This record gives sequence, C-alpha cells and structure tokens, in this order.
Amino acid sequence: MPRPFVVGNWKMHKTVAEARALATAVRDGVRDFGDIDVAVAPPFTALAAVGEILKGSEVGLAGQTMHEAGKGAFTGEISPAMLRDAGCSHVILGHSERRHLFGETDQAVMKKARAALDHSLTPILCVGETLQERETSRTFDVVERQTEHALRHVTPEEAARSVVAYEPVWAIGTGKTASPEQAQEVHIFIRKLVARSHGDGVARAIRILYGGSVKPDNASSLIAEPDVDGALVGGACLEAPSFLGIVAASRT
Ligand code: 13P
Repeated sequence: MPRPFVVGNWKMHKTVAEARALATAVRDGVRDFGDIDVAVAPPFTALAAVGEILKGSEVGLAGQTMHEAGKGAFTGEISPAMLRDAGCSHVILGHSERRHLFGETDQAVMKKARAALDHSLTPILCVGETLQERETSRTFDVVERQTEHALRHVTPEEAARSVVAYEPVWAIGTGKTASPEQAQEVHIFIRKLVARSHGDGVARAIRILYGGSVKPDNASSLIAEPDVDGALVGGACLEAPSFLGIVAASRT
C-alpha cells in the first residue's frame, strides 16, 4: 500500500495573513502524524509566505496550476521554476476548474506534466467526469483519455512518484461525495490503466487520491477502499480543524 497523501487545495481563498495563519496551524497540527504525507496548495500570492512557514516541516507546498514554458511573454502565468523558487514540491495539474472554466486541454496537461517533472515538481494529475458524462456512461472513457494524456510523456520511474487525483466534477463543491464503491471502481480502473502503460510495479506505487466533497466524517470510509490512497480536499481544507480531521481519518 502506498503511504497515504492528503492535499488541501485552497483554490482562490486566503489573503497572505490568513494563509500564514492556516499554514501555521496545519504545520503544527500534523507534527505528530508520522505515517502520512500532507501538502497544501495556497493561491500564488501566498506561496512564498506559506513556503517560509513550511520550510523544514513535513508539509509539502503545491502550486494550483502552472505554465509549461520556462519563461516568456505569458501574462498572468507562473513557470515551473517560479514554483520551485517559492518552495513548491508539488503542482496540481488539470484540475477540473482549469479544464472547464479556463479551457485547459488534455494536450496542455500532457505538456505541463512533462515540464513539472523536468523541474523536480511532483505532478498531482486531476482527472474526472462531469455529471453528464457519468449519466451517459462515459466515465471510463473520459478518465482513460485524461489519464493516458497526462502520463504519456512520463517515464515509469517518474510515474511511480507522480500522483493522480480522481475528482468527479459532480462531486466538487456540491456536498455530493462519490460513494466509496463509486470511487473504488474508478480508482482500480486508473491503476489498471497505469499498469498497462507503465507496468505493474508503477501501478502499485503511484498514489491515486480521491477528491470531491471530502469531509472529516466521510474520509475514513473513502480511504478504507483498497485503491484510494488519500484525498484532494477543497472546501474542508480552508479551516485547520476540518483539514486536520481529514488527515487524521486518512491515516491507515
Ligand atoms: P471540494 O472538496 O470543495 O468538493 O473540492 C474538491 C476539489 O476540487 C479539490 O481539488
């Protein structure tokens, strides 16, 4: 079993001062949890401040998105090197909000995954179907296409260190969580895709997180599924007690 991993995606929340307070509470709260990996993804404006707070701690720092180019005329974008410079170890790529609200394509996610790994950033590759796709029995097709693109130019060794997050779009911010059985059936499907593309050893090592209305009271039943290796948390990560509750519930 891979070591559990819980990531808080702060999305477009928290001023720098608020981010400092939350990061401090998370850092101090997970201090005794030796058997789980934790990371937070603050907005860009708070990355450097949170990076200072987390330096030397066990909590990882993640960007919420990234441009694939090294530098250049890309107004509003952030490069892999800039994320590294701010202290990031991870970057969330292909989040459904990036895909559906900002037009991020499978091809773009593919390039970003490659660029992240080239800069020693661990990609957290998000995949997941919309409600309409689920209702028209396209869940597995969509997840296959997104996963296959995201890992296409990733070597087996790199894939083993990467993270996939299954986030059904209909469960994000809606309070409607996938049932543990619904999550498990997609997670094992993803693991089989990875086995096919990168080998059985990689499929066993890669961490597959579930995201979509994870709360302290449903985290343990989700993580209890054999192929759910952790959680990517939105709303419930914005307050330290609920995020720490999810971290505690995800320890195996
Ligand atoms: P919620 O936990 O608010 O549903 O958000 C999930 C998510 O999108 C994490 O990336």
